[in-house]
Amino acid sequence: MAPTLQAIRGMNDLLPTDTPLWARIEATLRDLLNRYGYQELRVPLLEYTELFKRSIGEVTDIVEKEMYTFTDRNGDSLTLRPEATAGFVRAGIQHGLLHNQIQRLWCTGPMFRYEKPQKGRSRQFHQLNVEAFGLAGPDIDAEMILLTARLWRELGLSGVHLQLNSLGSAESRQAYRNHLISYFETHYHKLDEDSRNRLHRNPLRILDSKNPQMAELIATAPLLLDHLDEQSATHFEGLQSRLDQAGIPYTLNPRLVRGLDYYNRTVFEWVGDHLGAQNTFCGGGRYDGLVAHLGGRSTPGIGFAIGLERLVLMAAACGLDHTSAYTPHAYLIMVGTAAEHQGLALAERLRDQLPTLRLTANCGGGSLKNQFKRADRSGAHYALILGDAELANAQIAVKPLRGSDPQQTLTEAAVVELLRDV
Ligand code: HAM
Repeated sequence: MAPTLQAIRGMNDLLPTDTPLWARIEATLRDLLNRYGYQELRVPLLEYTELFKRSIGEVTDIVEKEMYTFTDRNGDSLTLRPEATAGFVRAGIQHGLLHNQIQRLWCTGPMFRYEKPQKGRSRQFHQLNVEAFGLAGPDIDAEMILLTARLWRELGLSGVHLQLNSLGSAESRQAYRNHLISYFETHYHKLDEDSRNRLHRNPLRILDSKNPQMAELIATAPLLLDHLDEQSATHFEGLQSRLDQAGIPYTLNPRLVRGLDYYNRTVFEWVGDHLGAQNTFCGGGRYDGLVAHLGGRSTPGIGFAIGLERLVLMAAACGLDHTSAYTPHAYLIMVGTAAEHQGLALAERLRDQLPTLRLTANCGGGSLKNQFKRADRSGAHYALILGDAELANAQIAVKPLRGSDPQQTLTEAAVVELLRDV
C-alpha cells in the first residue's frame, strides 16, 4: 500500500466540526463591514517577491525568514502572500483606485508565513484585512478601532485589550533611529546575533525581538513617543480623544513597533486573555508613505488585519453559539421503494414552500432503525417519515427528536405549517 500522505506542517484542515464557527464569524465580519461602508477587494495569493520586499521591508522577520518564495517556469521570483496590505496598494495603484479618492476596502483569505507552528500560529493562516486610503486625519484611525471594538461586542468576546502607540513621521523616526543606534552601540556586548545584524540596517526591529535575553535592554531603550514630531503628536491626541469620547479603553504602549516597516504614526494591537503566548489577534496602523514608495501618487493609508484562527479561538473560549444555525430542522426518512422514489420530490416541495428550511433527506437507503440513528445524529428537531402506509393516506409521520412530544401523522400542508415555526 502506498504511504498515506499528510498535510504540510503548519497547514491545517478545517473540519466540518470547525467550519460552523468560522462561517458564523465570517458572516458577522462581512455584515459589519458592509454596514460601515467598506467594499470587498480580492487580490491574488501570489505576487512578485519584489512587492513584499519593498513594502514590508528587507530587514524584517517576514522577508528574511518567513516567505514562501519560488521561481516560476518563466524565471520570475514569486511569493505566496504573507499579508494583504502590499497587494492592496499594488492593486489600488494598478487600477487607479487611490489618487484623490477615498476608499474603504477589505478582504479575507489565507496568508503564508514559514513560522514555527504552535497554538494560534500556523504557516497557512487566515486574515480579515481592512484598509482605508485617502484619509490623513485621526478620524479614520478611530473609526477602524471602533469597528473592531463593535465586532468583539457582536461576537460576545471578553478579555480583549487595546494597545496604542505612535511611530511619528518618517523624519522623526529617522531621528529616533539615530538615538536607538547609539543606545544599542553602547550596549553592543549584550546584543544577540540577530540584533547585531540589524543594528545599522534596521534598529527599530531590535525592539520587536522575541528573545527574552534582550528584554531588559529593550525595556530601557529610548522611547519613540519622546521623539514624536508635533503633527504626529496632535494626530495621536486626536485619536485618543475620539476613543475617549466613544468610551473605548486603551493602554499606551511605547514599545509597540509592529513587525512590518511600512508604518508611521498610529499603530495598534488588540490582545486577548484566552490565547496563551500568541495573544495578538488584531494589529494594524497607518502607512502614509507606502503608496508613493510603491510608485503611486502620495496617498495616505491605514489598515489592520485580524488573525482569524486566533479570533476563532477567542470566540470559542467565550462560548459563541455557532451550531444552531447549521443543524437541520428536519430529517426525511424514506422506507420502501415507493417512498424512496417519491421522497426527494416531497423534500423539494417542502423547500419550495419554506425557503429557510434546513432539511436533510436520507440518501443511501437503510432500515428504519438505521435512518432514525442518522436523523438523531444530524441534530434535527424532527424526523419526517415516509413509508407505504403514509403514501397510501397522502400523509407524513412526524416524530419530534428532541423532548417528549408524541409522534403525529399529518398532511403535507400541515407539515409545512409545523415547520414554518422552527
Ligand atoms: P500582522 O501583525 O503581521 O499585520 O498580522 C496581523 C494578525 O495576523 C496578527 O495579529 C495575528 O493575529 C495574525 N497572524 C500573523 N501571523 C500569523 C500566523 N503565523 N498564524 C496565525 N495568525 C497569524 C499584518 O499582516 C498587516 N498587513 C496588518 C495591516 C493591515 N496593517 C495595515 N493594514
